[in-house]
Amino acid sequence: MNIREYISQKKKEILIGRLTSNQFQQFFRTNAAELQKMLTYYECAIMEVETRFKVLNQEFSLSREYSPIETIKSRLKSIDSLIEKVERYQVPLSVKDIEDQIEDIAGIRVICSFPEDIYTVADCFLQQDDVALIDCKDYIRNPKENGYRSLHLIVTVPIFLEHEKREVKVEVQLRTIAMDFWASLEHKLKYKKELPADISDRLVGELLECATIGADLDNRMQKIRRQLSEDSSEIDDAVDQHQWF
Ligand code: GTP
Ligand code: MG
Repeated sequence: MNIREYISQKKKEILIGRLTSNQFQQFFRTNAAELQKMLTYYECAIMEVETRFKVLNQEFSLSREYSPIETIKSRLKSIDSLIEKVERYQVPLSVKDIEDQIEDIAGIRVICSFPEDIYTVADCFLQQDDVALIDCKDYIRNPKENGYRSLHLIVTVPIFLEHEKREVKVEVQLRTIAMDFWASLEHKLKYKKELPADISDRLVGELLECATIGADLDNRMQKIRRQLSEDSSEIDDAVDQHQWF
């Protein structure tokens, strides 16, 4: 671990130490079982949503002969980051308020090859009769000022337990490979707080430019893909003819 990483780790420990010092410690101790149950429900919802996207991808690969989804990543929010968010949004310390107000405890990231696949896959998912859309932020049509692009959906899906059915909130982020590549690099910059202002400003500018280049690449490759699929019968014929010789 280098000194920068060490300092940032210490800062985090101090922050968590402060946050968990009094009411939080008490709350987490007295509600441990209920919180554990809550997190388990979110884990189940992640499995549920992940399966639905995998099923859609399988069906697409049969009906349209290509798979729109490249990768699916999922994560359950860590306790540290849950505490940080509860504090930041001043959420009252109760399991119900946390469930109501924190919308990204269960997170799924669906990485598609082309921008248009994002909307096709999202539409199919949202058309499922037990998926309820709570909120949608389209950062592809309306990118953030820094260049961030993705389609964000907050949904509820049912999970079926032994004696009950529960509606659980999940945040779904859909993006292309290029958007994902960009977001992970930008995320690194965000956490490099100790960079001198001039370097940081320059990198912010470069990242914005990269976001535009990425979006252009996505669109150009999408156009090529469209042309290939329009011409696919001719290409297949050419391949068949070639095989005769
Ligand atoms: P929070 O949920 O508190 O983050 O605020 P919000 O609800 O206004 O956030 P939003 O829906 O815009 O973004 C939620 C998630 O999207 C974040 O936790 C990140 O995973 C991702 N995200 C949003 N904006 C950015 C960005 O500028 N850069 C990167 N790398 N990721 C982002
Ligand atoms: Mg959010």
